Amino acid sequence: MKNSTRQDRRDFLDKITKLGMLSFLPASPLLSSKEVAISAKSNKLLEVGPYLQNLSSEGITVMWTTTRNSFSWVEYGQSAFLHKKAFEYVGGLIQANNRIHRVRIQPLEPGVRLKYRIVSVEILDVKGSQYEFGEPEIGPIHEVAVPPKDEKSVRVAIFNDHHEIESTIPELLYRFGYQGNHQDFDVVVFNGDVFNNTNSETQIKDQFITPCVNVFASHTPLVFVQGNHEVRGAAARMLPQYFDFPTGKFYHTFDRGPVKFLVLDAGEDKADENWEYGGLAAFDRYRAEQRAWLEAEIQKDSFKNAKYRVLLIHISPWHSGTWHGTLHCREMFGDLLNQADIDVQISGHTHRYKYHEPDEDHNFPIFIGGGPQKGRRTLIKLHANQKQLKVKMLADSGALVKEKIITPKA
Ligand SMILES: [Fe+2]
Repeated sequence: MKNSTRQDRRDFLDKITKLGMLSFLPASPLLSSKEVAISAKSNKLLEVGPYLQNLSSEGITVMWTTTRNSFSWVEYGQSAFLHKKAFEYVGGLIQANNRIHRVRIQPLEPGVRLKYRIVSVEILDVKGSQYEFGEPEIGPIHEVAVPPKDEKSVRVAIFNDHHEIESTIPELLYRFGYQGNHQDFDVVVFNGDVFNNTNSETQIKDQFITPCVNVFASHTPLVFVQGNHEVRGAAARMLPQYFDFPTGKFYHTFDRGPVKFLVLDAGEDKADENWEYGGLAAFDRYRAEQRAWLEAEIQKDSFKNAKYRVLLIHISPWHSGTWHGTLHCREMFGDLLNQADIDVQISGHTHRYKYHEPDEDHNFPIFIGGGPQKGRRTLIKLHANQKQLKVKMLADSGALVKEKIITPKA
C-alpha cells in the first residue's frame, strides 16, 4: 500500500475513532469491518514490548516492535529525567526504517536501578536521503535492577514445552513465582518448545512476547532456549531477530549471580534428511559447530572458576529416547559435558517430568520438565547463593516433584 493511501486511511480512522463512529461503519468493499478493526488497532505505532534481553552488570538490551517502519531509541537514566539516549547503528548508519527494535545500553553502572522508556517515530517516506517523519510515540517509564558486579545470588524461573498455550505463562508465574507479594525470580528461561510451529511473526508476538511483557518482561529479562519445534514453520528463520544473546547465537553462556549458565541448542529431534524438514535442515553440522565451541568454552578460566555451572538444553542427551537428535547430542556433547564439572542440567522435550540422578553416562543430575497440558506442567525454580544451588521442580498441582540442593565443589 502506498504511504499516502495508508496515511489517508489512518487520518480517516483517527477522525471516526474520535467521533466514536467505528461501530456504525458498514462492511464495504472499500474497507471491511475486519480491516477497520485491524487498521484502528495498528494505528498505534508502538506494538509489543519493551522486553529485556541479555542483562548483565555491564549492559542490557531493550527490544520492542512497531506496527510500521520507524526510527527508535531508548531514553534512560537513574532519575525520572532520563537524560541519556541509546540507539543502534550498523556501519555508521543509525538503525531505522525497521519494525523490530533492539537497542543495547552499554556501559551501565553496575548495581543501580535504571529507569528507561522507548520512543519510536514513524518513517513515512524515504526519497533518496530525505526522510519524512511522523509524530513520535513515547512509552511509559519502566525500571530494571542492574546486577552488581559481584552479584551474590540469583533466582531463575524455568518453563519448558508450553507449546502455544500462552496462558501457562501467567498461570505458573503467578502461582509459583511470588513469595507473598514479592516476585522471587530475576530471570525467566523458556527452555524450548514455546511453539508447535513458528508460523508467523504475529504468532511470535501474540503467543510469546506479549504474555511475557504482560507479566514481567519489561523489568525482568527473558532467556529463550530454542527447542525442536521452533525450528519448524514459515517464520522459524525470523526468530533470531526477536532476541539478543551474548554471542549473537542460540548457544552461548551467560553469568548471573554465582552461576555460569551454559545454553546449547539441541536442534531437531530427527535426522536432517527426514521428509518433515523438506531438505532444508543442517542440524548435524550445527551440533558439530557447537561441539567445537563447547570444547573451547569449558577450558576458559571464567567457566572453570564459576561457583556453579548449569546446563540448559531442550533435548537431554540422555533419558530422551533413541531418535537421532538425542543420540547426536550425546555424541557431540556428552564427553565434553562430563569433563565440564556441570552441577545440574535442565531440559524438557519428553513431556514427562522426571529427575535423574548422576549415573555412569552423565556425572551430573538432570531435571526434565513436564508437558504442555494442565496436570502435566511444571515450573522449575533455581535459586543460587554463595552457600548452595537449589533446584525445585513444581508440578502445577503445587506438588514438589523434586528438590535438589548442591553445594559448591571447591
Ligand atoms: Fe515439546
